[in-house]
Amino acid sequence: MKKSFEKYTYGGLMLFAVGSFISCSSKTPTPAGGVYFSKVKTIISQNCLSCHSSTGSWQGRPTAFDTDDQIAALYASIKSSVADPVSPRNKRMPQGGSLNKKDIDIIVAWYNKGGKSTD
Ligand code: HEC
Repeated sequence: MKKSFEKYTYGGLMLFAVGSFISCSSKTPTPAGGVYFSKVKTIISQNCLSCHSSTGSWQGRPTAFDTDDQIAALYASIKSSVADPVSPRNKRMPQGGSLNKKDIDIIVAWYNKGGKSTD
């Protein structure tokens, strides 16, 4: 009588990932400001700079959004002008219109987070 031994060979493939991939961190900081701020800047450049910049039609007036610092310094007025009820002291911006809801929500979220260029 023959005994048959079944051999079960476990063929395992082992992968050793020994590389250190420092650049693969998921916490890559946003270079040009925070998550909201980069979007806020896009909204402002598309909807506000035609008037509110040093070269815009509103030039010479104090409210310019040329730099990150200027935008962050005016975060409360920017939010009011696009989202709060209109009043004699709070004109709806952009002048003669309104942002779409998605853009208003981004500005309000940025304002709620702190309204800084890192937010
Ligand atoms: C067509 C030109 C124009 C555009 C575009 C425009 N503004 Fe204005 N903005 C004005 C004018 C003119 C005033 C002054 C209104 C007044 O006092 O009657 C003003 C006023 C303001 C003020 C109040 C402070 C101040 O200077 O009197 C804020 C804040 C403001 N705008 C923000 C914005 C934002 C944010 C956008 C884009 C979402 C925007 N504006 C787009 C022309 C514009």
